[in-house]
Amino acid sequence: MNLKPESVDITMKSIVILISGLGSNLRALLEADMPCRVAAVISNRVDAPGLEIAKQHGITTRVVAHHSHPDRESFDSELALCIDDYRPDLIVLAGFMRILTPQFVARYQNKLINIHPSLLPAYSGLNTHARALRDGVKIHGCTVHFVTSDVDHGPIIIQAAVSVLMDDTPVTLAARVLHQEHRIFPQAIRWFCNDDIYLSAEGKVLMKRLEQPGCALVSPEMG
Ligand code: GRF
Repeated sequence: MNLKPESVDITMKSIVILISGLGSNLRALLEADMPCRVAAVISNRVDAPGLEIAKQHGITTRVVAHHSHPDRESFDSELALCIDDYRPDLIVLAGFMRILTPQFVARYQNKLINIHPSLLPAYSGLNTHARALRDGVKIHGCTVHFVTSDVDHGPIIIQAAVSVLMDDTPVTLAARVLHQEHRIFPQAIRWFCNDDIYLSAEGKVLMKRLEQPGCALVSPEMG
């Protein structure tokens, strides 16, 4: 990504990234080649390690601490004010661990995307890898989707699937899924920023270009 001020293209879309924790997805986004400007990284936790990653990349950081607000509405209002300082075209939830109010989601309708560590609509919510292993599914993965007030259920932009291995633990499975998260998240943002995707009348994400090679993941592999 091009971060040098003198080479910023003012026609480029700008994005704001929201984080809560480690920021491995944030790092993947900042290291990817994306046709957009990262205007700011905002965390709801002052101690989120991801803030350091943003600083290393020369990106403005802000903290809107959720614990200094009495309720979700008040936190979301301050968060929205902070986001609006940057007038972003897209708000990216990269491991942002707060449920957002319907009012907040409506304010940024079709401009708010999230990454979730499961193949939605399966395993919305928390502990996705342990739940997938408990159910014995053979394929698991991750999803980038538009955010709606129905938590973890908005229109799906892109998904990646991995085989679940017989000796997987939640930790080993999470690591393989996370690797795929780091691949598909920049791709979703590229499509958005290049206007390569749109929402159909039925609320599904469609691609403007039509080539779709199609491929299958069979797990376990057939002998
Ligand atoms: C990722 O697995 C993401 O899908 C989930 O929270 C995790 C954040 O990890 N929402 P990181 O902070 O990007 O490393």
